[in-house]
Amino acid sequence: MNARVRTVAPDRALRSHIIETQEAVTPVVLDAMSRAPNARLREVMASFVRHMHAFAREVRLTEEEFEFGLDVLNRIGQATNDSHNEAVLFSDAIGFSTLVCMLNNGQNGATETAAALLGPFWRMHSPATPNGGSIIRSPTPGPALFANCRITDPQGLPLAGVEVDVWQASPVGLYENQDPGQAEMNLRGKFTTDADGCVAFRSVKPAGYPVPTNGPVGELLRAQERHPFRPAHLHFLAYKPGFRTLITQVFVDDDQHLESDVVFGVTRHLIGDFRLGNGPAPDADVEGPWYLFDYAFVMEPGEAKLPIPPIR
Ligand code: BEZ
Ligand code: FE
Repeated sequence: MNARVRTVAPDRALRSHIIETQEAVTPVVLDAMSRAPNARLREVMASFVRHMHAFAREVRLTEEEFEFGLDVLNRIGQATNDSHNEAVLFSDAIGFSTLVCMLNNGQNGATETAAALLGPFWRMHSPATPNGGSIIRSPTPGPALFANCRITDPQGLPLAGVEVDVWQASPVGLYENQDPGQAEMNLRGKFTTDADGCVAFRSVKPAGYPVPTNGPVGELLRAQERHPFRPAHLHFLAYKPGFRTLITQVFVDDDQHLESDVVFGVTRHLIGDFRLGNGPAPDADVEGPWYLFDYAFVMEPGEAKLPIPPIR
């Protein structure tokens, strides 16, 4: 029998997977994957394969570029460990995290959203801290910040009992897990809203910082002549059963990188109001300038679920 005209067994639903031309690869692969019982897996993988194949054709991917891309993927994995997540950083740096966030929030991408990317630095089990308490757990530079946040439902009714996780980088430019000079869980805390839907805490005014650039993401930024800075911000994760978990960030309004966040996390909605305090600060030990920050969050009814922590 001519080897080129081998036929498929008649009882098989799949077609022959012998590849005749480059154009034939895509339909053959789609066919091979078409019997996956999980409908969502079928849909996602078929689309992924179509787009990946179209991408290779569009740029006429060379074999050297293909090998380089695989090496980058491997190195993203190798750079990831308990205290660093290069995969999250990569998807943040190409705008993918923000795209997915916006597609899934703000009425599925129809309106502006109060949500923002999680980033690679959220840790579960941040210390429960009494309302009004401080998240400064070791000496930390920067002006004192007194934050007052209120959480309501879409009708404006206060939401009591919301767990509010707060985290931020030290003004030295590092999160505590990146910096042996900071106490464990410095600038991280978990608060619970009171009957008025409010939490208050003391911290330091955040400063902008560079994302880690010692891995493949740093290489990419340098090759693209992009700066590595995030504008100063506070992170929030608000959790209450019956409400969609709100993951967001609020940015300092006078930051020089507000218009050029390396991970594309800034929306107008998320630019906060950080006011220089007048007169004596709320705490007697504060020396020098201090700031007030007030922000109102709205939580939508929906499913409460926590993300997989990017680090431990
Ligand atoms: C962050 O804000 O923690 C962050 C987000 C994306 C990439 C790097 C850091
Ligand atoms: Fe951050």
